[in-house]
Amino acid sequence: ERRGGAVLYKKSVPMPDNALQVRGYDFNNGVDHRALLQSYTSMGFQATNVGLAIEQINCMIEKRLEPVSDSDQEAPSTCPCRKGCTIYLGYTSNMISCGVRESIRYLAEHSMVDVLVTTAGGIEEDFIKCLAPVYMGDFALPGKDLFEKGHNRIGNLLMPNDNYILFEEWVLPIFKQMLVEQETEGVRWTPSKIIHRLGKEINDPESVYYWAYKNNIPVFCPALTDGAFGDVLHEYSAQIPGFVVDIAEDILRLNNITVASNLTGMIILGGGVAKHHIANSNFLKNGASYSVYVNTGQEFDGSDSGARPDEAVSWGKISTAAKPVKVFADASIVFPLLVAESFALHADRLIARKKATQ
Ligand SMILES: *[C@@H]1O[C@H](CO)[C@@H](O)[C@H](O)[C@H]1NC(C)=O
Ligand SMILES: *[C@@H]1O[C@H](CO)[C@@H](O)[C@H](O)[C@H]1NC(C)=O
Repeated sequence: ERRGGAVLYKKSVPMPDNALQVRGYDFNNGVDHRALLQSYTSMGFQATNVGLAIEQINCMIEKRLEPVSDSDQEAPSTCPCRKGCTIYLGYTSNMISCGVRESIRYLAEHSMVDVLVTTAGGIEEDFIKCLAPVYMGDFALPGKDLFEKGHNRIGNLLMPNDNYILFEEWVLPIFKQMLVEQETEGVRWTPSKIIHRLGKEINDPESVYYWAYKNNIPVFCPALTDGAFGDVLHEYSAQIPGFVVDIAEDILRLNNITVASNLTGMIILGGGVAKHHIANSNFLKNGASYSVYVNTGQEFDGSDSGARPDEAVSWGKISTAAKPVKVFADASIVFPLLVAESFALHADRLIARKKATQ
């Protein structure tokens, strides 16, 4: 006797009319990379999250393109917040070590994002790459051999010590000049002012921070001394005595931008300071309206790095009305794909708006 039907299985509640059916890309339609990416939303798992992240970023872009009038916003015309949506991009230093740097540089070059936040390596490695290359290596290269060769490993990339020597030779005279300006002109240096100045000094269109300088995109790095910048400050402290960097002024600058913004959207690659500095600022806005996280962190140890967006909702750092997305994946795979289907796709309109507001 056949069992089944209502005996074995409880009858389902009907799915809603608009429920999306799972379906992947059919290669009988040819090799169409855009159609392939567009199929991700209904693919399932992290592919679906990539599709949802693309949707969120495109929402940020549409809002950002909306005109704001003086009556809507009191902020000065120079404020990066003078848009329908201020877009914050945060990333850890490995994003600059790897080729994601070129995607970030593209966004800065065309003023497609409004505020950048990263850590020390995310600043200095961009300048280092203008002085000497970083090479492909292998995750399996033994640390002992590499140490003897003076080849530092970043995942499967290699950064020769010589690059840091070049960096030191480049940055030390600039620090000395900054100290002169501090003492004679009363300049109060902050991480964002230092990065702006270095972007001017590097004068190289390959650099993210050259374009941030050209386009007046503020770059925040509250942990600026946690890397080669700190090594140089320590090693040459006798040559730059009393050089002061004020992180308090930068938090006012960042939070002023957030408070003066209309809507806000955050795109955050990785965790740590790059993630939380943006989220914390958005607390002042009753939470960001749009949020995309891309990282492989997990929440079980309670670190903010691994926390899902819903934890930030509980703190008021992401709006309760938002539809935040976390893509659990390596951003070196995901971020260029997100850019391809969002910023790069709308490049004509974004660049036209940049020209219109210059
Ligand atoms: C922040 O905004 C306050 C109030 O408008 C202003 O007095 C201050 O100069 C701003 N600070 C920075 C660093 O932008
Ligand atoms: C954003 O701008 C729109 C259009 O100018 C305006 O109606 C809205 O009140 C603004 N929202 C905020 C939060 O400033």
